[in-house]
Amino acid sequence: MLRIPSVSADPKFKGDVAKTAEFVADSLKMAGCSSVEVYPTAGHPIVYGSYFINADLPTVLVYGHYDVQPPDPLELWESPPFEPVIRKTAIHPDGAIFARGSCDDKGQMFMHVKAFEAMMQTDSLPCNIKFMIEGEEEIGSSNLGTFCKKHKEMLKCDVVLISDTSVIANDIPSITVGLRGLSYVEVEVTGPNKDLHSGVYGGAVANPAQVLCDMIASLKDENKHITIPGFYDDVVEVSAEERAAMNKAPFDKSVYLQALGVSDSMGEKGYTILEQTSIRPTLEINGIWGGYIGEGAKTVLPSKAFAKISMRLVPNQKSDKITQLFKEHFERIAPAGVKVEVRPHHGGEAAVTPSDTPEYKAAAMAMKWSYGKEPIPVRGGGSIPIVALFEEVLQVKTVLMGFGLDSDDIHSPNEHYGLFNFYKGIETIPAFFQYYAELKK
Ligand code: BES
Ligand code: MN
Ligand code: MN
Repeated sequence: MLRIPSVSADPKFKGDVAKTAEFVADSLKMAGCSSVEVYPTAGHPIVYGSYFINADLPTVLVYGHYDVQPPDPLELWESPPFEPVIRKTAIHPDGAIFARGSCDDKGQMFMHVKAFEAMMQTDSLPCNIKFMIEGEEEIGSSNLGTFCKKHKEMLKCDVVLISDTSVIANDIPSITVGLRGLSYVEVEVTGPNKDLHSGVYGGAVANPAQVLCDMIASLKDENKHITIPGFYDDVVEVSAEERAAMNKAPFDKSVYLQALGVSDSMGEKGYTILEQTSIRPTLEINGIWGGYIGEGAKTVLPSKAFAKISMRLVPNQKSDKITQLFKEHFERIAPAGVKVEVRPHHGGEAAVTPSDTPEYKAAAMAMKWSYGKEPIPVRGGGSIPIVALFEEVLQVKTVLMGFGLDSDDIHSPNEHYGLFNFYKGIETIPAFFQYYAELKK
């Protein structure tokens, strides 16, 4: 499966994405699902499979995604992204499998297929099970919402189980109890109607690259607070007790910085790194370009400059509203002499998953059993927009029982997934089913 380049963002790979869907469907059939279907959508297909025992048992809906992020930049991979190899690393002494999607999310999703297969072979599946594996998570799950609304009855379940997040460390298990939302925009700044000689015209004509830098710079103040009016209006402040508890999670700043090759961190004043990457909203440039970027020097005053900007949101902030606030603000601060266009991309809402429910307890008990340690609840910094939708459309809670590590380089070159993590997941998942069935009796 890792050999099929299921890059959802690039139309060039449409055929490979479809091939991966078929692979997932075949795996579910082989593992023992009684009905499996590949549903076409306006975008990439959704794979659905199920095994029903009886109506007295609770039903677990396993969600995952088989699409992956683009592998670029290719030259930074030590081995080709779609030719998986196992190598040992300092953090993964037992070996890790290197390939795009190995952790996010093919590897983690496949743990569920294998755990299900094991339960079927040992005749020990204690719950009804449904699988919904999609191919558009990395591009915002735009067709999955419609699918869920259309197939509400088919997807009816007691809990959604997802492995698409991380644990703190291989000896520090944790369960994700929150995800951030997302607003994503692309901005285009246009100055003169063509590229100009930077000597003949420079100094008198607005340079869109410069203007774009100035505008983006003004989006944060000296405390790295976002300056867009209204941006923080809906943010619910996390209580001092909760923050204190959160900051008790094991975290070594110097190890963190060293692993990233930076001498210090930089973030919103008044918050720890753990807080900055979980309970606080952020604004980041994901890409910025314009003018001449080829070999050597070319003296040119560009006509256009662009940036892709993401904002991570926290519970109660609404993605559409934040995108609108950004758009209005960015257009308002544009100086005379340039035109600004803001184009919204996909977004999604934040989610919090409570830790006082049977589903959370079952996950905590399963991890305690397999790791020998009580897992720590943590709020994650990433986004899985469909989680908020599951709650809204299917009216069920989600358990985010992921097994990756933040250092597994998801979305980066050399993505990998520890064999320890893969097998630990396969070991833990049936325990979740067992505990969940008992708690729901
Ligand atoms: N699996 C990640 C989300 C994630 C990773 C959550 C690690 C918590 C810890 C997911 O595949 C992802 O990358 N989501 C995107 C959002 C999407 C709309 C493009 C993200 O977070 O950028
Ligand atoms: Mn993922
Ligand atoms: Mn991802």
